[in-house]
Amino acid sequence: MKRETWKTKVGLIFAAAGNAVGLGNLLRFPSKVALYGGGAFMIPYFVALFLLGIPLMLIEWVIGRYAGAKGHGSMTGIIGSFFNHSYGSRVLGSIGVSIPTLIVCYYIYIESWTLGFAFMSLLGQMPEPVVSDDPRIAMEPFVSFYKDYTKPSPIAVVFLIITLIINWVILQRGIVKGIELTAKYGLPILIAMGLFLGIVSLSMNGWKGLEGLLFIYKPDFSKLTDPQVWLEASGQIFFTLSLGMGAIATYASYVKKNEDVVKAGLYTAGINEFVEVVIGASIAIPAAFAVFGAMSVPELAKEGTFRLGFITMPAILMSLPIGSLLSAVWFFLLFIAALTSSLALTQPLVALLEDEMRWSHAKAVNVSMIIVSFGAFLSAYVKGFIDDVDFWAGTFMLLFFGLLEIIVFVWIFGVHNFYKEINTNSFIKIPKGLIYFYAVVSPLFLVLLLYFWGIVQLPKVLSQTDPNVLISRAFVIFIILLIAFFSIESRRRYLSGPHM
Ligand code: TRP
Repeated sequence: MKRETWKTKVGLIFAAAGNAVGLGNLLRFPSKVALYGGGAFMIPYFVALFLLGIPLMLIEWVIGRYAGAKGHGSMTGIIGSFFNHSYGSRVLGSIGVSIPTLIVCYYIYIESWTLGFAFMSLLGQMPEPVVSDDPRIAMEPFVSFYKDYTKPSPIAVVFLIITLIINWVILQRGIVKGIELTAKYGLPILIAMGLFLGIVSLSMNGWKGLEGLLFIYKPDFSKLTDPQVWLEASGQIFFTLSLGMGAIATYASYVKKNEDVVKAGLYTAGINEFVEVVIGASIAIPAAFAVFGAMSVPELAKEGTFRLGFITMPAILMSLPIGSLLSAVWFFLLFIAALTSSLALTQPLVALLEDEMRWSHAKAVNVSMIIVSFGAFLSAYVKGFIDDVDFWAGTFMLLFFGLLEIIVFVWIFGVHNFYKEINTNSFIKIPKGLIYFYAVVSPLFLVLLLYFWGIVQLPKVLSQTDPNVLISRAFVIFIILLIAFFSIESRRRYLSGPHM
């Protein structure tokens, strides 16, 4: 069975950029920046970008190409191939499939809100705006609207089903005709809409939005000793660049053998950062600054990641001329960003079932989407599910797996082998000294973060007594075990059959 490869270089770059660019850039980033004090967040953010983001991005690309040439696209097969496919290594690698699978379960539900809100904006179903300088009063109708919608309302369920079907169909069409094609149209539209909304937001109230940009970019050294800010900033780097879960490596496994992966990795990170620190920074926070003033922003962000995107933004946009249209543009922008990411989050599981279990593409996609649909419905109906799964899969497991990737792909593979592999066909040569530097500094940074996580975050969560967390934790364990099972079961098939 021949594995697919990306058809064009542009398609490959767009698909990878679409993988990384998502709700993280346009919603999670502005909320975190607002919550952790603007310029105070950006210093650890950029430190993490250069010490963790870029090196892990390159590692995943290099290893993805290397393993893809041997027929492996999922972390089960990729990590396994460094250890003669021992059971232990395949099970450990399978965590790199569980993480994206767990994330996509709630990610796709939020994606469905963006589609629902976009349609309701177009159809004139959004609430009437209330004009007031007091954000509480102005947002009141939008708060109830959001709460009613995410209950979930019957409309929310319909849009969830539509979103699941869209993802299903695209994945079923495969790498080139599905994912690459979606990204080729989606990414340029996304960037155009993002730039447009950025200008709208910055120019509101006689360019008062610019103060919002200043808030983000004025360096503030006062919080550099707060471990929480470092954790959140590094967590954001992982999340936004889709790192520490094998999702980039899975896309990289579909490149042609002679692809320049350094270039591809730098493009992926570069486009993602452009859409985050330029476009993402120019929309939600500047708009809130322009309309409600500086004081309101950290307050608003405190009420959760979704507040800024699903309540504040429509409340502001709807009060402008052609408000329904602007609101529709905002939510379509979010939808495209989310769609190209949810495809990427599901693909590692598809790759596991296809490459390792040797199932047909159709069967692999069907089983993957059944699992994802089940998780998406739990996200919709179980209170607190999204936060709890995000806490485990979206922060802790990522840091852990990122560390594992560096240990296996650089230390165990060997710095020299890695050095040879990264510089094969690459236009920009990476010096060996830099690899040594990263091989030491990045893991230390990660160990420090894991330590902070253990002392700062873990106690908070463990003290939770909400019975619903039993459901979300049972689900996390179920997915981990199920994927570990596939990884063990497939080892026999791997050893028995000829492999290309
Ligand atoms: N990077 C995506 C975003 O910014 C979210 C994400 C995290 C993701 N991990 C991923 C997407 C893995 C695809 C694959 O929204």
